Amino acid sequence: MLRPDQVHPGIGDRRVAMEDVNATPKGKKLAHPAAHAPRIFADTATIDEIMPLKEGGIINGVTTNPTLLKRAGANSWASADKIQKEIVKYMAPYPVSLELTELDPEKMFKQAKKLAAFGSNVVVKVPTGGFGMMERDPFTGLKMIRRLWQENIRTNATLIFNSTQAFWAANAGASYVSPFLGRVADYLYKHDQVERGPGNSLHYMEDHKVPSGGPNVVANTAYVANDGTRKDAGVRLINEIVSVFNNYRIHTEVLAASFRNAAQVMECLLAGADILTVPAPILMGVADHPLSDEGMKAFVEDSKTFDH
Ligand code: E4P
Repeated sequence: MLRPDQVHPGIGDRRVAMEDVNATPKGKKLAHPAAHAPRIFADTATIDEIMPLKEGGIINGVTTNPTLLKRAGANSWASADKIQKEIVKYMAPYPVSLELTELDPEKMFKQAKKLAAFGSNVVVKVPTGGFGMMERDPFTGLKMIRRLWQENIRTNATLIFNSTQAFWAANAGASYVSPFLGRVADYLYKHDQVERGPGNSLHYMEDHKVPSGGPNVVANTAYVANDGTRKDAGVRLINEIVSVFNNYRIHTEVLAASFRNAAQVMECLLAGADILTVPAPILMGVADHPLSDEGMKAFVEDSKTFDH
């Protein structure tokens, strides 16, 4: 479990410098008590999931990706664009992240311009890495973020798995970085079943005999981010990025992504995330607790006795 005192004190300054999440309407005497609260986004491309969350005032944005679009029923570029346009229009003025799928820089740029034209609330999601393994320029994503920043187009640097990638993306001009905390946890669960004591990254690499530049980069980063233990590595990654951004007053927002359960939502709040993008089924459950159920049941039962 992450301790609240592990969050860098600079977070207050950074959050105050950002846009109010809950602005107090003019003429209200009572100021909103959580003006600088972290924002919650829905991580889905399914409009039926988005609508009740927006109407209920739960979410301030949406993130999508090609997998979520496919899950929402997209089976052609035309249907994917139709879904994306509908979400953008429905969510305006709140930000909606739409992901680039092209790999060639000129095609990526053209696609980014097309997506940005769907609405002024569009944020173009740009993969930060992954180009090198396809024998492309490894800086393709970072260069695209820079180019879009120069064009005044907001970007969300996606597929972030360590704080260096996050810093590089912020430096390139990204408005948001999306560290995938759940995939870090998934990876470790799958590949690092053995409990081990405190150590350093070198020890870890030697111990596992994994080639450099391969999947060890993921495991290694998560391991270091977690002070050498396996627990909460994804959440610790969020905390690490928040600390770096607080140290240098970087206003790029840390958008925690890839949630697997409601406990991670609570832990990301403790870790200092600026935004949490959460799948609808997990969002629907965050207000639940067995003791709340039990307590509510007793209150309702007891209140019924007043009628007699
Ligand atoms: C959000 O921006 C990401 O695309 C999403 O959270 C990834 O989640 P996953 O790891 O469940 O695919």
